[in-house]
Amino acid sequence: MLHFAQRLTSLRSNVFADMDRAKAAARQAGRDIIDLSLGSSDLATADFILHEIERSLWDRQTHQYLLFHGTRAFREAAAHWYQRRYQIEIDPETEVLPLVGSQEGTAHLPLALLNPGDYALLLDPGYPSHYGGVALAGGQIHRLPLRAERGFLPDFSEIPPQVCDRARMMVLNYPHNPTTATASISFFKEALTFCDKYNISLVHDFPYGDLVFEGDRPPSILQADVEKRRSIEFFTLSKSYNMGGFRVGYAIGNPELILALRQVKAAVDFNQYQGIFNGAIAALNSDTTSVQATVDCFRQRRDAFIKGMQEIGWPVPTPKATMYVWAKLPEPWSENSMGFCEALVQKTGVAVSPGVGFGESGQGYVRFALVRSPQVLAEAVQRISVFLRG
Ligand SMILES: Cc1ncc(COP(=O)(O)O)c(C=O)c1O
Repeated sequence: MLHFAQRLTSLRSNVFADMDRAKAAARQAGRDIIDLSLGSSDLATADFILHEIERSLWDRQTHQYLLFHGTRAFREAAAHWYQRRYQIEIDPETEVLPLVGSQEGTAHLPLALLNPGDYALLLDPGYPSHYGGVALAGGQIHRLPLRAERGFLPDFSEIPPQVCDRARMMVLNYPHNPTTATASISFFKEALTFCDKYNISLVHDFPYGDLVFEGDRPPSILQADVEKRRSIEFFTLSKSYNMGGFRVGYAIGNPELILALRQVKAAVDFNQYQGIFNGAIAALNSDTTSVQATVDCFRQRRDAFIKGMQEIGWPVPTPKATMYVWAKLPEPWSENSMGFCEALVQKTGVAVSPGVGFGESGQGYVRFALVRSPQVLAEAVQRISVFLRG
C-alpha cells in the first residue's frame, strides 16, 4: 500500500463525482444525455479572439516559458479594462496577477493566507473549489449559511467570536454560483467593516460580472474597498468570452495579497501560453459586442426555460444574473437533492447539479446550467415533466 497525505481525504468525497458516475451509467444504458450540470458555456469563442491566438501560434517568439515580466501586456490590458469599467486606478505591476483560470487563483490563495487550523469563511452553498483550496492548505472551514429569506446573503453576526478571532480570509461571490443572488455595494461595505474588525482578507470571486440580465451592473469589491486595504478580486474570461477551455483569468487588488499569491504561483507554474494571453488582450480591449451577444443568448435561454417550468407546474425564480437557475425541489425530493438528480438522469438522461453538492445549505435545491439551446432546454423540461408525473 502506498502512503498518501491525509489532505486527500477531504477531496475524495465529492457529490459531483457521484453525479458523473450516474451520468456515465445513464449513457451506458443508452440514454440520450442532456447535460445541464456543468457551468461550462457551449457558446463559441469569438473569431477575433481565435485569430489573435492563431497569429501568435506562428510567432515563434511566443513559444518559450513566460515569466511574470513577460505578462506585462496582459496585466496592462486587465488594469485598463478594470479602470474603464469601475473608475478605480490599478497599477498593472503590483495590483494585477494573471491566472490559469480564476479557479487556480482562488484555490491557491489559501496556501498564502492560512496556517494549519486557521479559519476561512466560505459561503454555503458555494463553489466547491473554494472548499478544496482551504482543505489543501490545512485550514478550517466555517460555513456561512445562505438563506432565501436573506436574499442568499450571509449574516456576519452569526459567526462565533472564537471563529472570528482565527479567521484569516472570507470568500464572497456575487452574482453567486449557485443561487444566482446579487449583492450591493452596501453589503460589500458591511463585509469590509467586519473584515476590518478582525483583520481578515476579503476575497471576491467575480466570474459573472458581465452575465447580468436586468438591473445595475454588479459592484466590484474594490468599490467598497477603494483604498484596497484588504481585498482581492478574481476575474475570468471563461464566461464573458466563452473561453473556459483556454484557462485564463486574473486577480486584481491589494498589492500584498497579489504578491503573496504570486509567490505561491511561482512555485507551481510559469503561466500559460503567451498566445492565450494575446487572445485575452484582444477580448479585454474589444467593445461590448461579443459580450452583449452572450448575455442576450443566456437571457433568451433563461426566459424560455422559466416559461417551460411554469407551464409544467414547477415555477422557479427568474435569475437576474449568471447562467444558472436555482430551484427548490418539489416533494418528495425536498430533503434529497442527490436522489432527485440520480433518478432524473437515470430515467430521463437530463443531468443537473444537486444543491447539496454546493454545501449543506443547498439541500433541497437543484441547479440548472443553461448551457444548451432553447430547443434542447424545452426538451429537457418536457422530460422533467414526465419524470415528475411518473
Ligand atoms: C464561482 C466560480 N468561480 C470560478 C469558476 C471557474 O472559473 P475559471 O474557468 O476562470 O477557472 C466558476 C465556474 O463555474 C465559478 O462558478
